[in-house]
Amino acid sequence: MKNPTLKDIISTATARLSKAGVDSPALSAQLLAEKVFGLDRLGLIMEMGRAVDIEAAARFEVLVQRRAAGEPVAYILGIKGFYGLDFKVGPGVLIPRPETEEMVEKVQDSFDRNAEFFFADFGTGSGILAVTVAVLFPSARGIALDLSPEAMTLARENAVQHGVADRVQFVRADFNKPVLAMESMDLIMANPPYLSEAELQEVSFEVSQFEPVSALVGGAVGDEDIRASVPLIAGALKKGGTVFMEIGYLQGRAARDIFESCAEFSGSVDVLADLSGHDRIVVAKKK
Ligand SMILES: C[S@@+](CC[C@H](N)C(=O)[O-])C[C@H]1O[C@@H](n2cnc3c(N)ncnc32)[C@H](O)[C@@H]1O
Repeated sequence: MKNPTLKDIISTATARLSKAGVDSPALSAQLLAEKVFGLDRLGLIMEMGRAVDIEAAARFEVLVQRRAAGEPVAYILGIKGFYGLDFKVGPGVLIPRPETEEMVEKVQDSFDRNAEFFFADFGTGSGILAVTVAVLFPSARGIALDLSPEAMTLARENAVQHGVADRVQFVRADFNKPVLAMESMDLIMANPPYLSEAELQEVSFEVSQFEPVSALVGGAVGDEDIRASVPLIAGALKKGGTVFMEIGYLQGRAARDIFESCAEFSGSVDVLADLSGHDRIVVAKKK
């Protein structure tokens, strides 16, 4: 019997993943094939007619089975792109989302490339915000906080990978406690857990079953970490310092009220929309 081609096994996998009801079945099958066969997107297209040996087909099949069970592609590949950089990711750490890239754009609009400044990243996860900002601003230094040991390990590895480990300190700590020195930061970036418990029931099972609840849910109505961290952020920022915080698309009004009720931010709070037009980032300047 003739060995199947790459095209054959990818279309069989796509049909199987569609039946399993996972997101983006065709793209998932292609990305898994790229990993197993060591090809990039163009290489995959060029090699579609290539006959696949039994051993490689079996390795591909193992990954397709994991994907069919709902495991996100990023965890299977162990990597996710963010702002043009590759970040290691794994179970226990949130998979970076494209909307978070918009915060980096806002930071780029706020500082000159060669500016010397201190920043903090509240809930660093895989380290995307701290590491990307350190890469983009070679004279900036930062501190990245997270409670999760898995996050600490991966974020440090990502900082080493991108050559910024000497400028970013990773500290396993609760960002809802006063761990930073008062008035020490020019910039604080935060992407706290902000889903409500009800919203967790509505997200796809690929998210709720595989990504850490501690990275997703911010208490019963989703705003616990926003409420708890804003006064600490106000204390840790220098006068004139800026905070960018990612929020849920329904939290614009509540988050604005929380920031406005903090005397240091009152009158200098804005809620920015993401590319889909949803409220997404609170920006506030300390008076
Ligand atoms: C929404 S994820 C953001 C991860 C990453 N910054 C990103 O944008 O992909 C929130 C992160 O905050 C961490 N976290 C949750 N509560 C925390 C707390 N009280 N103190 C420190 N880290 C916390 C979680 O472990 C998780 O890594």
